[in-house]
Amino acid sequence: MKVLVIGPGGREHAIVRSLLADPNVSEVHAAPGNAGIGKLVPTHAIDGNDPDAVAALATKLGVDLVVVGPEAPLAAGVSDAVRAAGIPVFGPSKAAAQLEASKAFAKQVMAEAGVPTAMARVASTAEEAADALDTFGAPYVVKDDGLAAGKGVVVTNNRDEALAHAQTCFDAGGSVVIEEFLDGPEVSVFVLCDGRNTVALSPAQDFKRIFDNDEGPNTGGMGAYTPLEWAPEGLVQEVIDRVAQPTVNEMAHRGTPFVGVLFVGLALTSRGTRVIEFNVRFGDPETQAVLARLKTPLGSLLLAAAKGELDKAEELRWSKDTAVAVVVASENYPDTPRTGDRIRGLKKADELEGVHVIHAGTKLDEEGKVVSAGGRVLAVVALGTDLVEARERAYDGVELIQLEGGQFRTDIGRKAARGEIKVVSSATGTLPVTKAKA
Ligand code: AMP
Ligand code: GLY
Repeated sequence: MKVLVIGPGGREHAIVRSLLADPNVSEVHAAPGNAGIGKLVPTHAIDGNDPDAVAALATKLGVDLVVVGPEAPLAAGVSDAVRAAGIPVFGPSKAAAQLEASKAFAKQVMAEAGVPTAMARVASTAEEAADALDTFGAPYVVKDDGLAAGKGVVVTNNRDEALAHAQTCFDAGGSVVIEEFLDGPEVSVFVLCDGRNTVALSPAQDFKRIFDNDEGPNTGGMGAYTPLEWAPEGLVQEVIDRVAQPTVNEMAHRGTPFVGVLFVGLALTSRGTRVIEFNVRFGDPETQAVLARLKTPLGSLLLAAAKGELDKAEELRWSKDTAVAVVVASENYPDTPRTGDRIRGLKKADELEGVHVIHAGTKLDEEGKVVSAGGRVLAVVALGTDLVEARERAYDGVELIQLEGGQFRTDIGRKAARGEIKVVSSATGTLPVTKAKA
């Protein structure tokens, strides 16, 4: 099987790496890729967000499957164009990608499907925003309604700051979703969907804030680990039964079937499991950790999803190891990141036992040296027999990486390794009974 992977980041590097380990995959191409992907497979310098350009490349290469990594091409309709060219594609249509592209749309679908989530209101004026903030009270949660690469959300105790974020979104011509605050640990569950069937991957935890102890602004994600020893038994089944399957059913019912990854961002709150958000693609950097443990051949699995045949796919098999991914970001991320700096130590880190480096914002300069080219530059991924060992290995790798101004969190997976994560309520049994459509 020949596969084309669309996207420039760490998630795509991890996907390419796993595809190459699938004995049924004979050839992998990527567009546009990055320096790390370019070391593994041929890359093509097209605009990955341009539906016609992607469909034309997929046709020219004669691939059997296109895997679309990021949200932007999905929201732009890349999957639709590839499907129209008669090529199976792993990634939702433009219409189904609205589950991520519009938070207000996602809330409607969740309401219709009976999915437990935070109470929310849409606001498009300062008055509506103030009213909604006062209805829910502090801590305040204000979300840009459109795509914002994980950075459009402000969670704050400061009412003025919450109002200011809403105003910034209004000034840009948008609206906001204001929500009740969800307490409790967050979990990312990736559910493969083929339009009808759902298969959940092993849960992971992501670290959204830039600094240790969850301080500073939100980022795209600074690290991840999986599996979650502390997660309540039955969590994955609950996610399928109460969240993913009802959502997939609702999307099919609307005539916009969902094919791809439904990324369920959850909070395990004192009042039960709640969906924080949907994304319509693999999470970054969770994917770097999750795929490091997946033993089932990835290409065959994604092709089955693309063809509506997930019910015939083999059962998932996982390594017993724990995986940790620590992101190294450039100076000033998540603001305007500094780029163009040499990255050293990549090979040394890669050679450590159980460690591999996944590139994100990297490129080759004129001399063919790897330099930083984005906010999140790379992730050091490590497998270990437990979280303690995996963390040690990942941080040993990070220590070997040299990047001027580079920043990383030192506490990825630390609380879990110390047994400090508590789920107040059990995952099952505490939810309000909601009506799920058949
Ligand atoms: P989102 O883009 O919706 O995933 O939000 C980004 C991050 O903001 C989440 O991962 C949470 O850490 C935080 N967040 C979003 N919604 C809420 C909420 N209702 N309550 C508490 N934290 C939230
Ligand atoms: N790591 C969260 C995301 O991909 O949005």
